[in-house]
Amino acid sequence: MTAISYELIKTDKQTGARLGILHTPHGSYETPMFMPVGTLATVKTMSPEELKEIGAGVILSNTYHLWLRPGHDIVKEAGGLHQFMNWDQAILTDSGGFQVFSLSEFRKIEEEGVHFRNHLNGDKLFLSPEISMEVQNALGSDIMMAFDECPPYPAEYDYMKKSVERTSRWAERCLKAHKRSKDQGLFGIVQGGEYEDLRKQSAEDLVSLDFPGYAVGGLSVGEPKETMNRMLEFTTPLLPADKPRYLMGVGSPDSLIDGAIRGIDMFDCVLPTRIARNGTVMTSTGRLVVKNAKYARDFGPLDDHCDCYACRNYSRAYIRHLIHTNEILGFRLCTYHNLYFLIKLMEQVRQAIREDRLMDFREQFFEQYGFNKP
Ligand code: GUN
Ligand code: ZN
Repeated sequence: MTAISYELIKTDKQTGARLGILHTPHGSYETPMFMPVGTLATVKTMSPEELKEIGAGVILSNTYHLWLRPGHDIVKEAGGLHQFMNWDQAILTDSGGFQVFSLSEFRKIEEEGVHFRNHLNGDKLFLSPEISMEVQNALGSDIMMAFDECPPYPAEYDYMKKSVERTSRWAERCLKAHKRSKDQGLFGIVQGGEYEDLRKQSAEDLVSLDFPGYAVGGLSVGEPKETMNRMLEFTTPLLPADKPRYLMGVGSPDSLIDGAIRGIDMFDCVLPTRIARNGTVMTSTGRLVVKNAKYARDFGPLDDHCDCYACRNYSRAYIRHLIHTNEILGFRLCTYHNLYFLIKLMEQVRQAIREDRLMDFREQFFEQYGFNKP
């Protein structure tokens, strides 16, 4: 038995969207799903009880951050990440590859791994496929990610080709170094930027290594939305139908729907939690900056169509006041609402797939949310 398996329930004939169940050592979850991000072993401002209350399934955490603070040795000593943070549902950890590229200034990529500087204090650090696996094995996440390179957009074809080939060699090293395949599943990450032939090469390399799941990486890095959709349309058919597919770092409502339509099962993004701490919420009629002065006397809920705890009990005026005065409850209520909004959105997507009306749902949602047609 492998730690992670995917049960395909239904494929939407019209779009290729999939309804499925992701089985993990810490529970089974319906897909397509959105995974809240808890970089430092906490989904900022939310308690595990609250996360369960809103129907969160899998949450995400980061190898790079936990490696630096508090250190994977401490998390291991605590009994693993689940126990350390009191979360008994599934956890996915990103490999650190992306964070090294997005957070650190100086970096030097070699075949062996990446030299870079600690984003907190400037110390010299080195991360490799083997170190990433060692840290993720110590954390004990249900789903681990391969150590990859996510090149910036745009990248030259020749560079991207070398990078994709190196990422494939790193993926193979990750498989060899992974020591807990009984209770932790390791996913490969398809790269290749905006180049179809490189996406194909990357997908084929990784599929031949037989991972229990595949991520599509290197997207939502500044390319146009059409490019992301085109890459997804091209890539997902190259991946095995009986394995889960994860689009990394994508969390705007329109992209979740458009990703699901292209056969993606899992999504994660800091967007809902990050904008919440900025006083911005997602509503059924689009984004709303509740911090704005114009809501000072608005005694309605954040979203008329939402029945979350924040919307049932508090007004825009009150939440605006809290955000305005830097009160922690304000950030908590906006975070709670935003995560609830995306989790409910994915529930609606699954229901629409079940009832063969996903494209109608998309049209209706986009119309209300204020997006244009495809
Ligand atoms: N998060 C968002 N994009 C990526 C990616 O391409 N690779 C990894 N490891 N994490 C990501
Ligand atoms: Zn709400």
